[in-house]
Amino acid sequence: LIGLQYNMEVSRMFLLLLMAVGVLSLYDSFRLPDVYRPEHYELRVLTHLNGPDQLRFEGQVKIHFRVLDHTSNITLHAKNLSIDQTQIILNSRGGNNCIISTDFIEDKEFFILQLCELLQPDEHYELSIPFESSLSSNDTGYYWSSFNDTQTNETSYLAVTQFSPTFARFAFPCFDEPHLKATFNITLGYHEKYTGQSNTPISKCEKHATLANYIWCKHEPLFRTSTYLVAYAVHNLTSADMQSSDTDYNVTFTSWMQPKVVDEGHFFANFAPKVLAYLEKLMMFSFPLRKVDQLAVPTHKFFAMENWGLVTYKQNRFTHNDDEELLESKESKASTVGHEYSHQWFGNLVTMSWWNDLWLKEGPSTYFGYATLDALMPDWGTGERYIAQDLAIFFRQDAFNSSIAISRDVEDSASIMKQFSDYVYKKGSLTVRMLHKLLGDDVFFSGIRSYVQRYAYSSVSQSDLWQAMQEAVDANASMPDVRVATVMDTWTQQAGYPLVSVTRDYSTASVSVNQTQFLLPNGVEDYSDNCWWIPLTFVTQQQANFDETQAQFWLDCSNSSRNITLLKRPSPDEWIMLNPQVNTIYRVNYDQKNWRMIIQALNSTEHFGDIHVLNRAQLMDDLMALAWMNLQSYELAFSMLEYLPHEHHYVPWKRILEVLGKHGDLLREAQIPIFRDFMQKLVAPLYQRCPSLSSMTTATTSMQEVCLCRLAYAQACRYGLESCITEALRLISEYDVEKMPANYRDIVYCASIDLGDEQQFQLMRQRFHNSTNEAILDDLATGLGCSRNFTRLQPLLDFLLTDAAPTISTYYMQVVSSAMRRKHVALETTNHILQHA
Ligand SMILES: *[C@@H]1O[C@H](CO)[C@@H](O)[C@H](O)[C@H]1NC(C)=O
Ligand SMILES: *[C@@H]1O[C@H](CO)[C@@H](O)[C@H](O)[C@H]1NC(C)=O
Ligand SMILES: *[C@@H]1O[C@H](CO)[C@@H](O)[C@H](O)[C@H]1NC(C)=O
Ligand SMILES: *[C@@H]1O[C@H](CO)[C@@H](O)[C@H](O)[C@H]1NC(C)=O
Ligand SMILES: *[C@@H]1O[C@H](CO)[C@@H](O)[C@H](O)[C@H]1NC(C)=O
Ligand SMILES: *[C@@H]1O[C@H](CO)[C@@H](O)[C@H](O)[C@H]1NC(C)=O
Ligand SMILES: *[C@@H]1O[C@H](CO)[C@@H](O)[C@H](O)[C@H]1NC(C)=O
Ligand SMILES: *[C@@H]1O[C@H](CO)[C@@H](O)[C@H](O)[C@H]1NC(C)=O
Ligand SMILES: *[C@@H]1O[C@H](CO)[C@@H](O)[C@H](O)[C@H]1NC(C)=O
Ligand SMILES: *[C@@H]1O[C@H](CO)[C@@H](O)[C@H](O)[C@H]1NC(C)=O
Ligand SMILES: *[C@@H]1O[C@H](CO)[C@@H](O)[C@H](O)[C@H]1NC(C)=O
Ligand SMILES: *[C@@H]1O[C@H](CO)[C@@H](O)[C@H](O)[C@H]1NC(C)=O
Ligand SMILES: [Zn+2]
Repeated sequence: LIGLQYNMEVSRMFLLLLMAVGVLSLYDSFRLPDVYRPEHYELRVLTHLNGPDQLRFEGQVKIHFRVLDHTSNITLHAKNLSIDQTQIILNSRGGNNCIISTDFIEDKEFFILQLCELLQPDEHYELSIPFESSLSSNDTGYYWSSFNDTQTNETSYLAVTQFSPTFARFAFPCFDEPHLKATFNITLGYHEKYTGQSNTPISKCEKHATLANYIWCKHEPLFRTSTYLVAYAVHNLTSADMQSSDTDYNVTFTSWMQPKVVDEGHFFANFAPKVLAYLEKLMMFSFPLRKVDQLAVPTHKFFAMENWGLVTYKQNRFTHNDDEELLESKESKASTVGHEYSHQWFGNLVTMSWWNDLWLKEGPSTYFGYATLDALMPDWGTGERYIAQDLAIFFRQDAFNSSIAISRDVEDSASIMKQFSDYVYKKGSLTVRMLHKLLGDDVFFSGIRSYVQRYAYSSVSQSDLWQAMQEAVDANASMPDVRVATVMDTWTQQAGYPLVSVTRDYSTASVSVNQTQFLLPNGVEDYSDNCWWIPLTFVTQQQANFDETQAQFWLDCSNSSRNITLLKRPSPDEWIMLNPQVNTIYRVNYDQKNWRMIIQALNSTEHFGDIHVLNRAQLMDDLMALAWMNLQSYELAFSMLEYLPHEHHYVPWKRILEVLGKHGDLLREAQIPIFRDFMQKLVAPLYQRCPSLSSMTTATTSMQEVCLCRLAYAQACRYGLESCITEALRLISEYDVEKMPANYRDIVYCASIDLGDEQQFQLMRQRFHNSTNEAILDDLATGLGCSRNFTRLQPLLDFLLTDAAPTISTYYMQVVSSAMRRKHVALETTNHILQHA
């Protein structure tokens, strides 16, 4: 039996061994082995921009790193780089290590060096790797872009980096994960006629030893930074504005763009320093750099990129022409600026350890971006409108079982890229807002500031944010107990949102509440036992204080239904309401009687019963959604809409028109005229609130009025309100198409195509062929897509597809998507796409 015992011992060991191996191979990780700690990169890059066939770079990186554990290989990231293995040098205190072999692992984007001996824990190593590659043509990694001189037609090439999220590895070999921060010394080589820039200023330049007229310029050291935030550029853009800002280190801003758009770049060149100064005061943490260059690049993968000291923008997100572009688009671009500079604290200073927690940088940056606009452009009223729109999209999108949590596992580059969705940005922002409203200004900002202070130059997971917030809560004696992590995890780690049902007992003045996930039927399983920690804040008719947003009660996961006695007992004939300002992302259903009292309040008083504007929008949205789900009647939902003739605010109008528009899209042919008729009557009072379209086109008006009236005109014309159509057709005949005021141009174009005749269409089409102005071409293409007559549209679509000029054929997409939105000829348009795809 000894033998048997021996065998059992052996087979158990064997089994363990197999399991270990099995686990290893199953754990097919896209993550670097967690044994390397880069400390410093010496990076030299020589850039060649000598015409279309000579757009390339070559360089050398020397990485100083430590290892945490014995290892016989070095695994780093590199992709699309040519590396001469014989030139790689690995130094350690023990002398030069031998490199047995090197390997690219394509799918993981790894570059692995196998060594003949083990690296020792806590030893320091220097790995030097030469590399070369062509500049990328797809706006990622180290890529080229170009612009043409308006006078000479000569083409200028430029090179610029876009490393976020996983493209640094296309530019130089590196440990390309956000938590692996290191310091950088960057030296750039290029022809002396160009400007070279990086995160930090140049410290000194010298002549290239062999290449005539080339220089090497060394930049000042960059403090600990994630690879995705490293940036450099070589270009001959023009510097438009240079100014210092009111920050602790008097940061100097310089903005660069191609000569022909310089006049349109002043607004944002001047705006950015103010944004940075505002945010620095809000965060109470000095912006650590001395200079910021802003680069308007002709092509860019995203709207903008928040690189330390070298912020890049897609050119048309940085320039604005007040005469040709919408005022609303100026606002949207300004919010991009606010967003990028918020990143200097959320992302750049305090970085998420891994991309699963992307929302930790995108959520706060979106939220504080809005706050920045409210502070610097108070007349615009941006925050409320943007938050309302984010809520609208969230409640619509997240009602399906297929939605996903904002914090979720990602591994490979493709799934990391997918994290950068509107959804993560917007729900992330709403999550930060919820925290703000729940904790109040004092506790929230004290938590945020200590989070930034504590984790500056390092990296975090979401529990670190909760921890900092918890400490701020605990330090505040007047703050009721909140378990931040327990509460917030239910919002960030689950998809979807709850429906809270409220039933009042009018005799005892108590209410019972319960929660279920709000799920629209989707063909798949529509049941869930997800559950949230929901702060319950009641507002009553007698005390309609919508500023009080801290939790009065909790509906948690241990008892997802409960009976509550309100602190101040409501009388049976006053309404109660949950969730002031919609500070938390859930829907509410009330009993019939309470709904009717809310509807009365909205309808009968001047001030809508003091019900907050975000709640007015949400009440209609909720009730329409409940009716759709058969949880309330449409009769009830439509009786709420009867208050709308008095509504003067953009936010509720925008929400209900969108919700109803979605309903309309689902109607059958025969029902459409009835629907149009209904919508016409609905929008008429909104339309009458605005001055006539023709007087608006000449008057200068405020952001808020432009937003409200654009909505009014667009919807009134869309549903065929007589006077709107007449005005639009009159304007199109009076104005030179190109001179039509930008804020109303798209609406007038669309209306005149929608309801105009053959001649109208052909005239617009000619104008499309003749125009060279991009903003106008955009609007003309969208306008032509408003046609109801596919026989007219088809020749245009055919032309756009076959025309050789690629710039023209991109308008195909524009016409098509406009046609798809309006549903008149959606079917034929779909067929056209399918036949030509
Ligand atoms: C490289 O070393 C790490 C750490 O020692 C190990 O986990 C990994 O499997 C090795 N990879 C290769 C390809 O040898
Ligand atoms: C960009 O192009 C390179 C090839 O030049 C390719 O390997 C890479 O996947 C492309 N990146 C994106 C984001 O399309
Ligand atoms: C510049 O002009 C060239 C040649 O006319 C053309 O091929 C190219 O597309 C133009 N580039 C830009 C950015 O307009
Ligand atoms: C530049 O290009 C345009 C259009 O291709 C042409 O009309 C013009 O004559 C060119 N100008 C010069 C200076 O070559
Ligand atoms: C940029 O470089 C191009 C090509 O070398 C040259 O034609 C152009 O004049 C330069 N532009 C500026 C503004 O220096
Ligand atoms: C980085 O550059 C600074 C000064 O420019 C220099 O003092 C420092 O030694 C450099 N770091 C390394 C590791 O070479
Ligand atoms: C910034 O500028 C102010 C006034 O111009 C000056 O008093 C201050 O010393 C400067 N701060 C730094 C860090 O240079
Ligand atoms: C929640 O409350 C509503 C209204 O009182 C009731 O109709 C519903 O059945 C309850 N749901 C659950 C899951 O208890
Ligand atoms: C709440 O009260 C109702 C009626 O008074 C009762 O039926 C229900 O069970 C109570 N629910 C809870 C969770 O206590
Ligand atoms: C709303 O008020 C109007 C009069 O202002 C009235 O005609 C209508 O019936 C009211 N609707 C509801 C649902 O109370
Ligand atoms: C477009 O250009 C053609 C030829 O240059 C001209 O005959 C026509 O009048 C123009 N059409 C419009 C609407 O400007
Ligand atoms: C659609 O346009 C075609 C071609 O322009 C025209 O013959 C036809 O009468 C139009 N149909 C309608 C319903 O207006
Ligand atoms: Zn961002």
